[in-house]
Amino acid sequence: MALTIDVTGKTVVVIGGTSGINRGIAELYAEHGAKVAVASRSQDKVDDTVAALKAHGAESMGFAADVREYDAIVAGLAQVAETFGEIDVLVSGAAGNFPATVNAMSPNAFKSVVDIDLLGTMHVMKAAFPHLRKPGASVINISAPQAFLPMQGQAHVCAAKAGVDMITRTLAMEWGPDGIRVNSVVPGPIEGTEGMARLAPTLEMLSKVAGTVPIGRLGQPGDIGMACMFLGSDLGAYVSGQILAVDGGWSQAGCGDMSSFLGKMLRQMGG
Ligand code: HXC
Ligand code: NAP
Repeated sequence: MALTIDVTGKTVVVIGGTSGINRGIAELYAEHGAKVAVASRSQDKVDDTVAALKAHGAESMGFAADVREYDAIVAGLAQVAETFGEIDVLVSGAAGNFPATVNAMSPNAFKSVVDIDLLGTMHVMKAAFPHLRKPGASVINISAPQAFLPMQGQAHVCAAKAGVDMITRTLAMEWGPDGIRVNSVVPGPIEGTEGMARLAPTLEMLSKVAGTVPIGRLGQPGDIGMACMFLGSDLGAYVSGQILAVDGGWSQAGCGDMSSFLGKMLRQMGG
C-alpha cells in the first residue's frame, strides 16, 4: 500500500458544507481532485460553494435542504448518487449553536439544536446508507468538545453532540460488516468561524481562548480537513468508532475552562 492519499475521482459529500469548517473540508477535497457535493439550507450558499469548488477544477454539485427534513435529505442524496456514483466519503457537519443557559432558553430553543445536530445526523446517516460504497466508505460526523465536556450555556449542544458521538460508535458496529467505517472528528476552536463568533464574540475572549490551546494557536478549517483526509483514506483503514479530537490539545485541559467563561458572559447579560 502506498503511504499517500489519492482522492482523485472519489465521491465526497459534505452536509452543512457551505461555510466555515465544513466548507474548508469540501474545498480541500476539491483541490485534490475529488468530486464534491455539498448541502445546506440556503440555496445561495450552496450555489456560491459549488462555484468555488468548480473553480478548484472539481466536479461539484449541491442541493438545498434542511437536515431536519428527512425526505429532502433522502431526495438530495439520491440525486448526488445518481450523478456522482457511490459515496466514498460522507461528512455530516450541519449544526446550530447559540450561548444560552437552560433558564434562558425555551423548550423549543433546546429542541431546535437537538433537531439539527442529533436528529439531523441520524437523518443524514440513514438517508446516505443505500448510497455508501460497500465495502470501503468512510463516514465522518463533525462533533464538538461539548460532547464530552459539560459547558455552561451549552446544555443543548452538549446533549446533542454527545448523541452524535453515540450514533458514531453504534453505527461503527452496525455498519462494520458492510465494510463502512464511522468516526467523529471533534474540532477545537477554529479561527474565523460562525461557531467561534458565537462562543467567543469579543477579540479579548478569542485571544484568551487561543492562549489556552496547548499547541499555541487557533485551528484552521484545513486542520480539520487533513484529519478527514486521513480518516477517509486507506491510511485509516482500521480506524472505526473513534472520537478524534483535532484541537491542538485544547480539550485535554477542559477547553481552557470555556465553561466559566460562557457562564460569566451570560450572567453579565442577565441570562
Ligand atoms: C435563546 C434562542 C437564541 C438565543 C434562538 N433561540 N437563538 N434562545 N438564546 N441566543 C430560540 C428561538 O427563540 C426559538 O425558540 C428557537 O431557538 C429556534 O429559533 P429559530 O430562529 O426559529 O430557529 P432556526 O431558524 O431553525 O435556527 C436555528 C438556530 C440558528 C440554531 C437557532 O442560530 C441557526 O440556524 N444556526 C446555524 C448556524 C450556527 O449556529 N453555526 C454555529 C455552529 S458551531 P422559540 O421558543 O422562541 O420558538 C457549533 C459548535 C461550536 O455548533 C463549538 C466551539 C467550541
Ligand atoms: P457554520 O459556518 O455555521 O456551519 C454550519 C453549516 O451547517 C452551514 O453550512 C449551514 O448552512 C449548515 N446548516 C445549519 N443548519 C442546518 C440545517 N438545519 N440543515 C442543513 N444545513 C444546516 O459553523 P462552523 O463554526 O464552521 O461549524 C461547523 C461544524 O463544526 C459544526 O458541526 C460545529 O458543531 C462544529 N464545531 C465547530 C467549532 C468551531 O470552532 N467553529 C468547534 C467545534 C465543533 P445554512 O445556514 O445554509 O443551512
